[in-house]
Amino acid sequence: GKVRAPTHIVSTISDDRGEEPCYAGVPMSSIIEKGLGVGDVISLLWFKRSLPRYCTQFIEICIMLCADHGPCVSGAHNTIVTARAGKDLVSSLVSGLLTIGPRFGGAIDDAARYFKDAHDRGLTPYEFVEGMKKKGIRVAGIGHRIKNRDNKDKRVDLLQKFARTHFPSVKYMEYAVQVETYTLTKANNLVLNVDGAIGSLFLDLLACSGMFTKQEIDEIVGIGYLNGLFVLARSIGLIGHTFDQKRLKQPLYRHPWEDVLYTK
Ligand code: ACO
Ligand code: LMR
Repeated sequence: GKVRAPTHIVSTISDDRGEEPCYAGVPMSSIIEKGLGVGDVISLLWFKRSLPRYCTQFIEICIMLCADHGPCVSGAHNTIVTARAGKDLVSSLVSGLLTIGPRFGGAIDDAARYFKDAHDRGLTPYEFVEGMKKKGIRVAGIGHRIKNRDNKDKRVDLLQKFARTHFPSVKYMEYAVQVETYTLTKANNLVLNVDGAIGSLFLDLLACSGMFTKQEIDEIVGIGYLNGLFVLARSIGLIGHTFDQKRLKQPLYRHPWEDVLYTK
């Protein structure tokens, strides 16, 4: 019989060997002919399956809402400084992307992990938040530099409204909202932020769409797919900031001395 030489790479998401590329077995022509969108492409390449319209729409809303948040946030600031140092598009983009992490934009996976664990173990928001405090861990998905109880994040509201209308269940989101209600009793800016809203709602999508097994959900949350949504989304804005700085022919950035506390 034939002997199959062992391969150096195993790949399961796409195939370019035929007449046209296939994403998770779906030919490109079918994606285009059916008028599918970027949410469908993400479903195929990340989750290896077609998801119902409300799920792909939710993914697209996450991408649109997180595409940019002005020039002052960590990512855009780095990208702007890099572009002004005369660097190319890719350098400017990755310079911004490298700021995405536990404090900025990259708290979605941890929010999903902690909210899921606390919800599934039946912890009250008090038990959950105080337990985290004891461990010295900030609650991922809670807190914001400029948003607060009286100036809530509109993006969170938009995600919640969409999910309440289209999702079969929003139990994880409701839990995150209860956590927010408790954290707001501690400080005004401990609101549910956009990372927390996406993390909790993606749990609802995974758990209630009927499209994923329990084992698959654990794998997705364990590996941490969800920060990918912010990385992908914010790349749109960071690329925009790079073009903006080049278009404006902005000179090399130097931070003003007056804005530094020089001290011993
Ligand atoms: N959980 C518990 N306590 C918190 C949290 C939190 N998530 N955030 C702030 N606090 C409390 C802590 O007591 C903190 O004191 P500490 O420094 O001793 O831990 C105190 O509030 C001071 O916090 P602030 O100065 O108000 O917070 P800051 O403005 O520095 O941080 C930030 C804002 C980074 C978003 C913070 O709230 C945080 O780390 N949140 C968790 C991570 C997260 O969700 N990041 C995503 C933000 S949304 C986005 O980037 C798109
Ligand atoms: C963002 O989306 O970049 C923000 O929520 C962070 C910020 O500080 O505005």
